[in-house]
Amino acid sequence: MIADLSGRVALVTGAGRGIGRGISLALAEQGADVAAADLIAENAADVAAEVERLGRRAAPFQVDVTDRQSIDAAVSDALERLGRIDILVNNAGIIGAGGIWERGAPSDEDWQQTFEVNVRGMVMASESVQGHMIERGSGRIINIASIAGRQGSPEIPHYSTSKAAAISWTQSSALQLAAHRITVNAICPGLLWTPMWEAIARRRSTFGSSQSEVRGLPGRELFERIVHDTMPMRREQTPEDIGKLAAFLASDDAKNITGQAINVDGGIRMN
Ligand SMILES: NC(=O)c1ccc[n+]([C@@H]2O[C@H](COP(=O)([O-])OP(=O)(O)OC[C@H]3O[C@@H](n4cnc5c(N)ncnc54)[C@H](O)[C@@H]3O)[C@@H](O)[C@H]2O)c1
Repeated sequence: MIADLSGRVALVTGAGRGIGRGISLALAEQGADVAAADLIAENAADVAAEVERLGRRAAPFQVDVTDRQSIDAAVSDALERLGRIDILVNNAGIIGAGGIWERGAPSDEDWQQTFEVNVRGMVMASESVQGHMIERGSGRIINIASIAGRQGSPEIPHYSTSKAAAISWTQSSALQLAAHRITVNAICPGLLWTPMWEAIARRRSTFGSSQSEVRGLPGRELFERIVHDTMPMRREQTPEDIGKLAAFLASDDAKNITGQAINVDGGIRMN
């Protein structure tokens, strides 16, 4: 089997819905046990229950990745309950502070909170887990960046910049950890209809978009128009698509891949 993760344990941040849920289930389908960590405890518990229904062990954690103590507590609890952490998926991310879709331009809070979650949260979770991986001389870290990190954005520059930083951090971290046989890679998802994109759609419906004439269109219709107008494959991505690549990168089959950022975006970006 490609991407056999039998006996492995994964910690996934932002696991409670959207892409994080898709990654958690894809890893479990390949045999991994999952520590499902999310700001929203109830969603983490629901995903942990889904993992268990697939026949794997699971543990839900309420975690705020911007709070080092919260992450450290979840990591030590996960180690106690599941015995080890072989795979860390840094997926938790935000598009801005609350109410971003009502603003024409990003505020100081949008910049600050987006960097706290998308960059510092990723760095702190990695720092919290990597000591354990170094001790064992193996590990897989997968950072969820975005195609937004491949190209600047006039509308959400704070988000694009945070995702470019996530790609750069992936390279630095891969170089720091290579000697310990820990790989670090990024996945750059394209366009997925998750609660995050629902917020982007509301914003573009109000303020328009540089990519396409979409002002005034209802959310889902606007999303489909952007997929049609900007994506060569003309097909939206799904959390399962991202989960399958995460499962491969987490497996022994990907042991010689590190420091890479891989687009799963129907051909929007080819760099
Ligand atoms: N949806 C897309 O089209 C798309 C495209 C490219 C990249 N991404 C990235 O994929 C990741 C997941 O996105 P999504 O679309 O599933 O978003 P989402 O908003 O549906 O889910 C994000 C999850 O992260 C959790 N979270 C937010 N802040 C947190 C914190 N401080 N601590 C712990 N958990 C926190 C949320 O509770 C939520 O469960 C993000 O990093 C996002 O930037 C999404």
